[in-house]
Amino acid sequence: MSSPAPLAERLRARSIPVGVVGLGYVGLPLAALLAEAGFSVIGVDRDAARVARINAGENPIEGREPDLGELVAAAVTGGRLTATPDPGRLAAAGAVFVCVETPVDEAHRPDYSSLEAACRVVGAVLGRGALVVVESTLAPGTMNRLVIPALLASSGGRAGRDFLVGHCPERVMPGRLVRNMRTMSRVIGAASEEAAEAMTAIYSAFVTGELDVSDPLTAELVKTSENAYRDVNIAFANQVALICEQVGGDVFRVRELVNKSPGRLMLVPGAGVGGHCIPKDSWLLASSAGDGEAPVLRAARELNDLMPAHVARLVADALGVAGVPTEGARVAVLGYSYLEDSGDTRNSPTVALLAELEAMGCRAAVHDPFVPAYQGELASVLEGAVCAVLMVAHSEYRALDPAWLASIMRRAVLVDGRAVFDARALESAGFVHRRVGVGGRVGVAGVL
Ligand SMILES: NC(=O)c1ccc[n+]([C@@H]2O[C@H](COP(=O)([O-])OP(=O)(O)OC[C@H]3O[C@@H](n4cnc5c(N)ncnc54)[C@H](O)[C@@H]3O)[C@@H](O)[C@H]2O)c1
Repeated sequence: MSSPAPLAERLRARSIPVGVVGLGYVGLPLAALLAEAGFSVIGVDRDAARVARINAGENPIEGREPDLGELVAAAVTGGRLTATPDPGRLAAAGAVFVCVETPVDEAHRPDYSSLEAACRVVGAVLGRGALVVVESTLAPGTMNRLVIPALLASSGGRAGRDFLVGHCPERVMPGRLVRNMRTMSRVIGAASEEAAEAMTAIYSAFVTGELDVSDPLTAELVKTSENAYRDVNIAFANQVALICEQVGGDVFRVRELVNKSPGRLMLVPGAGVGGHCIPKDSWLLASSAGDGEAPVLRAARELNDLMPAHVARLVADALGVAGVPTEGARVAVLGYSYLEDSGDTRNSPTVALLAELEAMGCRAAVHDPFVPAYQGELASVLEGAVCAVLMVAHSEYRALDPAWLASIMRRAVLVDGRAVFDARALESAGFVHRRVGVGGRVGVAGVL
């Protein structure tokens, strides 16, 4: 009897199905792109409602996601993507991609309960010679400490011997899921040469960016470092913004001129950092250094987490200037997701802002065109409000006319957390306003 062709060859020939565990922001576009590339895809998710919607050819992800709806519909109607809550269906797969959530708990420690559960079922059902790739973001060392042991325990010791293992972290972001997945370069963190060959065979089928072959630990370090880099740099911009407010400067003008200096690339400050990834990936990286270590990462996290409370202080300040008491003040909060034109609400700074406003005695009314619970009429949220707070730069809000806002609100008071509104237009509409990072008017006249 002849032995079967190597896995990479069977994957290139599309002669073996592949599986995706976790059909969220990462797993669903991955499954759809694999299907488009000619693979037969088994998608597994424990959320039965999500599974049913996908099998009906629907895209369950809220917000603007170019191409995703069409890709999912084509994959399902073409019979190349089937979703199921039953991981037993993965037994036929030649490669399985684990794309489950990897959050941190309240003490900022990694919560790998979903990852461990997924690895255990995959290890238990997978056939000899198959490949397991974890796409979820991991603290450095997690492949060796948790993923491989979980696969080994559930497979009776076959992981590494009977099947191949790798880590290939994702670089997607809501609003650009399909585009990033197709075009961005990827770190192929393969635990063996055979795993590298099989991973390259799959990813080259739909990724146009470079495939950088490396090992799992390097892949873990790269992914958590690239998100921690962003978090630390946003914290730097927020720190300068707070200083500008204190001394009467304008952080946006400062940033523009700082960035004229070679090698400087100051980011945009704002009302806080949200999403599933940036707020927790710094903690994942820090956790690998040990309790209380990595002070730069910790300080950045703490500062970014303080920004919604700072926005609440700006609300109190602006209301004070307008002579409106905070107690009982109706505040219209524009934006509940964490990102413009997205419905992703995970770790949204607005949640923290609402708690602060409540503690100040304000009555908040929320609007968000992408979050089902807050999709009501914008005008009715603004009516009767004595202050509006812009938390998310959704396109709908960018198009708002300050004169219309002033005409519909009870008082013309506004706090701009995302530098969306033109200060002069607000002033000519009669607004008392505050903007994160702007402490006053600084011009030649002010300096002289
Ligand atoms: N969202 C992003 O933009 C993004 C970007 C890069 C990396 N990541 C990383 O990718 C991973 C997944 O993130 P996401 O945003 O897609 O999460 P998500 O919450 O949108 O999706 C995870 C899915 O996995 C399912 N699931 C969880 N445990 C399961 C199990 N044991 N069996 C079957 N299904 C299970 C959940 O029901 C859910 O549908 C995380 O590690 C995240 O850090 C996310």
